[in-house]
Amino acid sequence: MFKKTGKIILAAITLSGVAYAGEFNTQAEKDRIAMQEYFLEKFSDPLGKSSKYFPYVDKEEIKEKYIWPVKLEDFAHGTAAWYKPTKEQLAQINDFPPYEIPLDEGRELYNTAFANGKSYADCFEKPGVKHEYPYFDVERNEVITLGQAINECREANGETPLRYGKGDIAKIMAYMAYESRGEVINVEIPNEAAKQAYENGKKMFYKQRGYFSLNCVECHVDGSGQRIRAEALSPTLGQVTHFPVYRIKWGGLGTMQRRLAGCVRDTGVEKPKMQTKALKELEFFVTYMSNGFEINGPDTRK
Ligand code: HEC
Repeated sequence: MFKKTGKIILAAITLSGVAYAGEFNTQAEKDRIAMQEYFLEKFSDPLGKSSKYFPYVDKEEIKEKYIWPVKLEDFAHGTAAWYKPTKEQLAQINDFPPYEIPLDEGRELYNTAFANGKSYADCFEKPGVKHEYPYFDVERNEVITLGQAINECREANGETPLRYGKGDIAKIMAYMAYESRGEVINVEIPNEAAKQAYENGKKMFYKQRGYFSLNCVECHVDGSGQRIRAEALSPTLGQVTHFPVYRIKWGGLGTMQRRLAGCVRDTGVEKPKMQTKALKELEFFVTYMSNGFEINGPDTRK
């Protein structure tokens, strides 16, 4: 019942970005294509020509537990794209998806009127707009995330903003993601300021931080395809498609901003605040990397 759409249009993935061929996204497009090529090559033949990417992984383990070649559209499934144990575990959990109840609650919340009689439907054209976020607002000169837009809708209608990251806001986003299943992510870079926001996000992605001087790349680009203790590391490509996710460890739904804040903290620094300029720009960059992928959220994670 939760398979609203399963189709993936490969052409849309490879061609996306051409539709908006503005000069401001030239570098971003290079980055995005390079990211795709890197992962496609890496996961093409880990026992043969791409074995150089897995110097520390036992060949027997690869034979037994890895999936390859990974097709472009399968990167939408995170770790489950290349690691059989995760794939099997996820399939089992999703027999009765734990996000089902919060998703229903989100539908209810979305459709409940505010005290002034209006509702989210007065702010959003339709619930299925998850793929349109985050976007760069050229008038306000900033990245707008979906969580922010939900709270701005509430405040414009005299309601208090919701707490970011989990709870009601994540439930509403889960419903909006569900209604957006099959829609294609297409982050645009419409002007110089947007380009700067992209560059800032990219810098944040590459910035070494914390005691171990780690960055996102070490875990989710170079490191993806390997494990850190019990956790198999997902590729950056396709990481945003399924948010918000129901995470077993959280015992509930969490948003992309929550996950990003947690991952920054895991590098050994203080946890950044959600919805700050820096964290929104990081989301902008990471989402751009998944341009061309379809929304398939909400989903479940360990
Ligand atoms: C020390 C390693 C490490 C670093 C550094 C790290 N992460 Fe993670 N990240 C993880 C682990 C482990 C998970 C959970 C397993 C998975 O899905 O990769 C995860 C999960 C994620 C997810 C969710 C993936 C999904 O499919 O649900 C996102 C998004 C993410 N990280 C982004 C980032 C970003 C952006 C950075 C840089 C700020 C970063 N991570 C830095 C270890 C790391």
